[in-house]
Amino acid sequence: MTTSQAPGRSTARRALDTPRSFVAWGLAHGLQCALIHRGARRGDLISRMVVDPALREDPFPAYEELRARGPVSANEVISASVDHAVCNEVLRSDAFGTAGGQGELPRPLQWLHHKVIDPEALGPVDPPSMLAVDPPLHTRYRKQVARAFTARKVGRLGDRVADVATELLDAIADRADDELDLVEDYAAQLPVTVIADLLGVPADDRGRLLQLGNEAAVTLDPGLSWGQYRRAETALRELHTWFAGHVERITADPGDDLISQLARLDGPDRLDRTELHQVGLLVLAAGFETTVNLIGNAVVLLDRHPDQLRWLLDHPEGWPNAVDEVLRHQSPVQLTMRVALRETEVAGRPYQPGHGILLYLGGANRDPAVFDDPATFDVTRANADQHVAFSAGVHYCLGASLARLEAAVALRALYERFPDLRLSGTPQPRRTRVLRGFEHLPVRVGAAVR
Ligand code: HEM
Repeated sequence: MTTSQAPGRSTARRALDTPRSFVAWGLAHGLQCALIHRGARRGDLISRMVVDPALREDPFPAYEELRARGPVSANEVISASVDHAVCNEVLRSDAFGTAGGQGELPRPLQWLHHKVIDPEALGPVDPPSMLAVDPPLHTRYRKQVARAFTARKVGRLGDRVADVATELLDAIADRADDELDLVEDYAAQLPVTVIADLLGVPADDRGRLLQLGNEAAVTLDPGLSWGQYRRAETALRELHTWFAGHVERITADPGDDLISQLARLDGPDRLDRTELHQVGLLVLAAGFETTVNLIGNAVVLLDRHPDQLRWLLDHPEGWPNAVDEVLRHQSPVQLTMRVALRETEVAGRPYQPGHGILLYLGGANRDPAVFDDPATFDVTRANADQHVAFSAGVHYCLGASLARLEAAVALRALYERFPDLRLSGTPQPRRTRVLRGFEHLPVRVGAAVR
């Protein structure tokens, strides 16, 4: 049997610093980067929201500034919205699409970008990633993957998620006197273990995959500098190299995991090598790069609201709603983007094909037209689940029920075992703009309850 190549030792660095990488960066990010920085220097709010580090850490005042200007605002390059109705409308509209993730580029430059980008360095928002293609291609990929995430299949994972949580909490209980990093020791481990099971990933590879996923996550952000792009590209190449080894191993010794199923497809459904990589790596990365933030964000919010934590300990049936309230209040995915595919109109504003709109999901989830007193965190909020934290329309998150299940099980198990768990230092936020969460959460867990 061939073994999967250990992530980390690879030929990954071979094509770095080549002119091809530089051109790919220039087209995907460099032009954007220059325009956005110019806009930000002139004080343009939409540009500042993309590059200002202060607005990365606390984007909420900027969301309110944007909201005060109306349902949609625009600068000379792009428009943006924090309006719940507009976000929903655009995400569900077939007049808008992802346009290959490069919609703001003129068509000839999009074509050039597709030509120069190396298939072994494609990121989660590069086609043919499911996130970056429109129907009918999107429908074809989604149909294959959706089979693994039906409500029935996810429901059956409940026991496995609870077992993983128990194993991790047992290990934490052995170190209860130490200061722990809740992200590293729990919030990241639980989702990566579950998704690794679903995709047939060997346990030994999980740690390195987490690290590579973290390094590559920045590629979701717009307007990366060449340095950021290069570092992320290195991680992406290693991920692709690892994935190729994983597919080889699985093809020689197939199981009933999702990658084995995708690799087995035949006839018109068959995925070519690049498609298989993009679909598989997206599910893998989406499976652990987001839920970790949901769990971490919940821990910080509950630390700040101990009365609500006490209420949940007395009313454990409230955990699923509490998870939705965390998704609403501190959305792990703050932002997505769509591009007009034909002439259309949103909130009275005309759109020409190719015109992009930034949809701030994290801002829509604070829309006072939908949520009373939206800045307040309230685990009993009646309509918490009306958030758009999982997007809407054809790209609605495929892992939404799994993420909800993982977070509710993980949080309940954590606090029932360690009801006195408290932050013991300053949480360190992630340095990404699209993904919102914490890189490190120092905690003391206190005495365990059996
Ligand atoms: C808190 C956890 C999660 C959040 C907040 C989240 C959020 C999102 C969002 C906002 C999108 C759509 C982006 C867009 O419309 O442009 C998305 C798509 C997706 N998510 Fe999630 N996600 C989470 C967990 C997961 C998990 C656990 C998995 C897999 C096991 C997953 C798999 C996917 C996939 C495959 C897509 C692409 C769907 C498509 O394009 O049709 N997600 N997610």
